[in-house]
Amino acid sequence: MDSRISARALSAALGGWRTREPAYEALADGIRLLCLDNRLAPRTALPAERELSAALHISRSTVAAAYRSLRDSGHIVSTRGSGSVTLPLRRRDPGGAASAEGAIDLQQASPPAWPGLAGVISEVALSASTLVARTGYDVLGRIELREAIARRYCDRGIPTSPSEIIVTTGAQSAIHLLAAVLLGRGDRVLIETPTYPHAADALRRADARLVGVPVTTDDGWDLDRAEQAFARTLPVLAYLMPDFQNPTGRSMTEQERSVLLRAADRAGTILVLDETTADLDIDRGPLASGFMDGDPALVVRVGSMGKTVWGGLRVGWIRAEGDLIRRLVASRPAQDLGTPEFEQAVAAAVFPDFAEVVAQRSHVLREGRDAAVSSLARALPQWRVPRVQGGVSLWIELDAPLSSALVMDVRSRGLLLSAGPRFSVEGGHDRHLRIPFTASPDDLARAVDILAESWPRVRGGAPVALVEQLDSVV
Ligand SMILES: Cc1ncc(COP(=O)(O)O)c(C=O)c1O
Repeated sequence: MDSRISARALSAALGGWRTREPAYEALADGIRLLCLDNRLAPRTALPAERELSAALHISRSTVAAAYRSLRDSGHIVSTRGSGSVTLPLRRRDPGGAASAEGAIDLQQASPPAWPGLAGVISEVALSASTLVARTGYDVLGRIELREAIARRYCDRGIPTSPSEIIVTTGAQSAIHLLAAVLLGRGDRVLIETPTYPHAADALRRADARLVGVPVTTDDGWDLDRAEQAFARTLPVLAYLMPDFQNPTGRSMTEQERSVLLRAADRAGTILVLDETTADLDIDRGPLASGFMDGDPALVVRVGSMGKTVWGGLRVGWIRAEGDLIRRLVASRPAQDLGTPEFEQAVAAAVFPDFAEVVAQRSHVLREGRDAAVSSLARALPQWRVPRVQGGVSLWIELDAPLSSALVMDVRSRGLLLSAGPRFSVEGGHDRHLRIPFTASPDDLARAVDILAESWPRVRGGAPVALVEQLDSVV
């Protein structure tokens, strides 16, 4: 067994779990969803029945029945001595490895590959013999690619030299590397909530303590909370997505950028700006340089080709001052020994076509967004669908805090989504659902039909107190 979760932590992760009767099935569903979302890793020991019943203020027999249901569905195993332990997902499990076949999978918000990519790959393959003559262990990144990345920053008004770039295997690996180099146990990290969950997971894995600052699609960043959090907790690092934030789709105003920059400067906080989604503009307009007047050592940018070109390319990068680049290079071999040569060559060959890539993305995302918005307006008018100008998803406000229950219900109908709490830093967001509009308009229309069919049932099955009491908070 690898780890255990305390009754308090499980209770916090479950949030508003009591979404239907009988209570034991609602609790079992809550734990199933944590397993499906990987918020409860396989081989995690669950709390003893007595402890969980005390933390959740329910009877021990309810917990016992929930664990029995989880054993029957193959999600946990209970043994004398070790208690109850989560199991890896089975292949037939909704959300398990094979489940995406035939299902509409909206768990990932990734557009299909840019159509020109296959041609570029074929062209680069012609130089295979030159490529394989290289040593192949490239911890810093090919100079042609670093030059192309630096040029793109210069075009945005951010003077950059190739020595300020390290190429990584995607933005995720960049975030992981930054966390490993910059953070120590117990360090505070300021982070938006909701946020991109794999970044939060990487920062937690570095034993950082996350401090959430709310962001909403309509109102943007909560600057009062952010300023207080910077001043009170003196975070070592702040992880932010200034443009088309995932999942809200919101971009920072100039004022938000400058308030956050000043607060970070005062606190001595390194700002890690994740710009993976920054080029996904539909109808906002040009990308701002932003964050330019602070201490340059305190502003680090992360970029990626994952959303613009293709997630499968696995090419990302970090832009930082030379000193930090050297520290990242020194630390990297413990994590990986470089970015694959072929993928780097493909990425470098795509850069000259970047304007075309961005225009094509804009077109695809507009179609997806407009299809999702109009289907939702027709089928689920009681949900509040915010207007977004780009990015990958709609962060929708439901008319009851039943996101997790809804996600479980539609899974069995072949629609895979992540519930609102998956994007939360400190629990909550049960009233929100992320719908990526990166899928095809047809899939999005079908997905909305499934949601509209499920929602009255899920809402009708919830205890009246939950729906009514929390409805008044809207
Ligand atoms: C905001 C954000 N950062 C990072 C990533 C990971 O990017 P990559 O595929 O380049 O690792 C994603 C992918 O979903 C993302 O949305």
